[in-house]
Amino acid sequence: MTGRKKVTVVGAGNVGATCALEVARRDYADVVLVDIVPNLAAGKALDMNQMASVTGYEPTIVGTDGYAETKGSDVVVITAGRPRSPGMSRDDLVTTNEAIVGAVAKEVARRSPKSVIVVVSNPLDAMCHVAHAVSGFPKERVVGMAGILDTARFRAFIAWETGSSARDVQAMVLGGHGDQMVPVVSATTVGGVPLTQLAPRGRISKMVARTRKGGGELVSLLGTSAWYAPGAAAAEMVDAICLDQKRVLPCTALLEGEYAIDGLYLGVPVRLGAGGVEEIVSLKLTTDEKKMLRASAAAVRDVVGVLSTPS
Ligand code: NAI
Ligand code: 2OP
Repeated sequence: MTGRKKVTVVGAGNVGATCALEVARRDYADVVLVDIVPNLAAGKALDMNQMASVTGYEPTIVGTDGYAETKGSDVVVITAGRPRSPGMSRDDLVTTNEAIVGAVAKEVARRSPKSVIVVVSNPLDAMCHVAHAVSGFPKERVVGMAGILDTARFRAFIAWETGSSARDVQAMVLGGHGDQMVPVVSATTVGGVPLTQLAPRGRISKMVARTRKGGGELVSLLGTSAWYAPGAAAAEMVDAICLDQKRVLPCTALLEGEYAIDGLYLGVPVRLGAGGVEEIVSLKLTTDEKKMLRASAAAVRDVVGVLSTPS
């Protein structure tokens, strides 16, 4: 491996700090944590640096309320923005977070023109459009995190239902990061055995429904949105890019005809490597799944229609 990578995480709140810590613990990258609140990122970075000798990584995390230190980053994760509170949908956040993500993307593009941007802020699919438009980066280098999280939730439910290890559950949740997301049951297996052979249809429908409402379930328990699984999911994408792993992961990518959808960021399986989205992987869907994906795309288009950022 060549020198250490540089990873910036903007937003030092729940998701950003979790992601930064996960990446720091892998010990292949110097991490820069940025937040608009004075001292917040600096304080969290200091705490993480002091943890380093205990758990075994280099204490090279920098916390700042500016962008000078982010210069030349390989990957920038954008988690800045407001999270959901009870009763609020992901889409209610659109106007507030559009302004924040736009401002962040502008700074990032100027300081790290060769980086890959991983968008996390909600409403996720629409915020990818904002980061793509404002940064001016090619579509391959602006990608969103949602599918890994939604799939992780589905995998956990399946592991509990079938009494299996979550590690042996293979699944893909595609579409927008909203209540119409598409858990692809036809491609879901446990140790290679199709889920449809392991659980009755009614139980599968319940797990699909719980996955679709997975974010809301956490918001009603916590009073804000989740962070451990989201932070870890974003870190998995950072690994795939920084280490050029060529992982096939469900990520939010700009579709230009793939899956019969044009000009829209949506969750699909992608090959993720040093170049960002290196390929949009084609997965055969059933007729019902194709219909659900179209419905999910229509819901995303409605939110994108509310944006004022020209694309
Ligand atoms: P949080 O409130 O804990 O952290 C957000 C941080 O962003 C705050 O510290 C805030 O000061 C900072 N911030 C706001 N404006 C900023 C700016 N202009 N520049 C730099 N920092 C700024 O929220 P949390 O829980 O970390 O969530 C962050 C975002 O991620 C939310 O929009 C949330 O909805 C979204 N999210 C997305 C998920 C996904 O699957 N895509 C999963 C979980 C959360
Ligand atoms: C989640 O799915 C709210 O997007 C956030 O946890």
